[in-house]
Formats: sequence, C-alpha cells, structure tokens
Amino acid sequence: MADDGSRAGRRALLVAVTGLAAIPCARLIGHAPLDSGARGWLRLANVNDLVESQPKRFAVIVDRKDGWVVEKGAEIGAVWLFLQGGKPAALSASCPHLGCGVQPTEGGFTCRCHDSKFDPIGKRVYGTAPRDLDALETRVTEGEVFVRFVRFRAGIKERVEVGG
Ligand code: FES
Repeated sequence: MADDGSRAGRRALLVAVTGLAAIPCARLIGHAPLDSGARGWLRLANVNDLVESQPKRFAVIVDRKDGWVVEKGAEIGAVWLFLQGGKPAALSASCPHLGCGVQPTEGGFTCRCHDSKFDPIGKRVYGTAPRDLDALETRVTEGEVFVRFVRFRAGIKERVEVGG
C-alpha cells in the first residue's frame, strides 16, 4: 500500500493533468512567419509586389496548437491583394455564402460552389452569396503591406466577425 506522500503526489498530478485538459483546443499561438506584432495584422507583401486590378493570392499561415500538438505552418485562410487606384486593397478569399474559396475570373471573382459572382472590387453581382466579398483593412508601413486578417460569419447578410 502506498504511503500518504505518494498518494498526495498522484493527486497533484491528476489535478494538473485534468486542469490542463480544460484549456481550449485549437488556440492560435501566433502568426508565422509574417507576424506584425499586433494581433490580426499580418505583413503579407511588399507594395511593389502588387499590381493595379490584378489580384494575387496570399495564404495566411499560423502555428496552431491543439492540445499538446503544435501544427507549424497551418493555412487558416487566404487573402486576395491588389492595387485599387494605386492603393492596396484586400478581400477575403472565402465566399460569404458557405466559405468556399473564390477565384479571380473574367470581370471579377467567382465562387464555383454555388456559382456566385462578384465584381473586381468584391461587390456581389449575382448568386447565392448573401453579401459582397469581405474587404479587409490594409496599411502600408515602409513599403510593406499589412492586412488585418479577420474571418466573418458565413451565410448571413451582415458582416459579423468571428475571429482572426
Ligand atoms: S459557398 Fe460560394 S456560393 Fe456557396
């Protein structure tokens, strides 16, 4: 039979393990490799990489923690970046209907999942998408383009943030 000391040790270990299990899973532990230092703001490109009205896709890459497992370099989304009137503009690459990826096509963007169409600046033209593509904030610092990456609830007309 174990003495009181080892029982107390096992009890402390059990509390520590079950306490750690209460930590939410899939918590983002940081943006890599393009973290600007401010939550949600990602350095995605140099302004010289962008072209007027010609969208380029940039993946949003993070290190993601799920329990004890750290997944390095997980793609959690993507952004279409281009110049509009000489200034950087960013659109979420996720369709506001159900979240499929949108692609640039003749005359704007298209979501092939349910055939929604958007104009070159993301305004809804037709289809089942309930709103325009989600525009994201941008800023330029010393020639680097930063985007505030935010995800929005899909399937509704209003833009409701659900996280970065
Ligand atoms: S997910 Fe894009 S139209 Fe349905």
